[in-house]
Amino acid sequence: MHALLQDVATRAVKYLDDLAERKVAPDPQAVASLDALDGTLPDTPSDPREVLAQLDRYGSPATMAMAGPRFYGFVIGGALPVALAANWLASAWDQNTGYYNITPVTARLEQTALRWLLELLDLPRECAGAFVTGANVANFVGLAAARHAVLERVGWNVEADGLFGAPPIAVIVGEEAHPTLIKSLGLLGLGRTRVTRVPVDAQGRMRVDALPKKYSGPVIICAQVGNVNTGACDDVAALRERAGADAWLHVDGAFGLWARAAPSRQALVRGIETADSWATDAHKWLNVPYDSGLAFVRDAHALRAAMAITAEYLPTTSPWRNPSDFTPELSRRARGVDIWAALRSLGRDGVAEMIERNCRQAQRFGAALAAAGFEILNDVALNQVLVAFGDADRTQRVIAALQDEGTCWCGGTVWQGRSAMRISVCSWATTDDDVERSLDAMLRVARATP
Ligand SMILES: Cc1ncc(COP(=O)(O)O)c(C=O)c1O
Repeated sequence: MHALLQDVATRAVKYLDDLAERKVAPDPQAVASLDALDGTLPDTPSDPREVLAQLDRYGSPATMAMAGPRFYGFVIGGALPVALAANWLASAWDQNTGYYNITPVTARLEQTALRWLLELLDLPRECAGAFVTGANVANFVGLAAARHAVLERVGWNVEADGLFGAPPIAVIVGEEAHPTLIKSLGLLGLGRTRVTRVPVDAQGRMRVDALPKKYSGPVIICAQVGNVNTGACDDVAALRERAGADAWLHVDGAFGLWARAAPSRQALVRGIETADSWATDAHKWLNVPYDSGLAFVRDAHALRAAMAITAEYLPTTSPWRNPSDFTPELSRRARGVDIWAALRSLGRDGVAEMIERNCRQAQRFGAALAAAGFEILNDVALNQVLVAFGDADRTQRVIAALQDEGTCWCGGTVWQGRSAMRISVCSWATTDDDVERSLDAMLRVARATP
């Protein structure tokens, strides 16, 4: 065991060291060689060191360098060294973090991390929280609590009786709601298309004036802070004012919620504390390893009612918080450990610096590309930049050529009818020098692409 675990640490450190200089996309030859990891199920055991060596030999070169400093695809954080190291230790602990009585250290770390997060993001301190796999499931969790609460108010117990014959719930989403939010609504029986879609403005924000004026019965409004294309944030305070106190207001803040931790960006997310539930990711802007998402719910009773279970064999009675009382999963990894370590190491100032830096870097991308004559489609207020290199075909060609060149990696999108390259700056590892290197590559490739 000693030799194996020391070997893997050495290999992982070498892998991470090499990321800054290798091409970001996986080597096509390495991808073609993945067959070496395939084959038939072996009948007999192999030396674990050989298994590991094979994994590293064939697997590592076939990875996308998402943990490196110049990956700007989707919205992907890296992994802070302290969070990765804590994750390794927690994996060695192998705690099935459901109940405090059984796994006290990981349950307590989660509880502390939750308190720190509510302080950092300045959300109501009475919120309950769930440590889940990502914003997708965090949306599901927040909306499950919402479904419970709005139906309970009209005398319906949805966990007991389901939705058959239940009073209808009006569900309102923005035209550019993230597909995972829509999927969560479907999973909850609220329907992917049985929703009112509110038109958005030129940045993708829900138009408050277009919200229905009157509702009768239960209503859930789904706002978004951090549009996956533009980074734009809905005006949650205005939505609350328009919707009134009775509507359940849920915020999908997969990455935008972290603007709360950065003084220069807080104005973008002012008023979100008036919502009832919030979903975000820790694997995006907090830069902890995959997978790690967070749901916060003001009405702890509603969340617990939606998620908690009991059984004679489960040690549910506890003086401290039981993590599984708030999550869809019973058995679960100790996600709070990585988050605790990231927050303990960075502190408020470190988180703010990381977010401010990434936003400043996004602005630098936007300004330099605009100065070079390319069209920036969005207001670069947060960490997302949408750039068009001419028409759709040329933009696609530039994206493909840039991915092939390998200095950095950006994906494409079509937003409000326009094809664009997305630049999402979301990593602790991205330095200003990385931004300049990436810009050099972008401009060189764009100019050389007909
Ligand atoms: C606004 C928004 N919501 C939800 C998600 C889904 O997050 P995850 O893939 O971590 O579940 C994303 C992902 O980028 C997002 O940008």
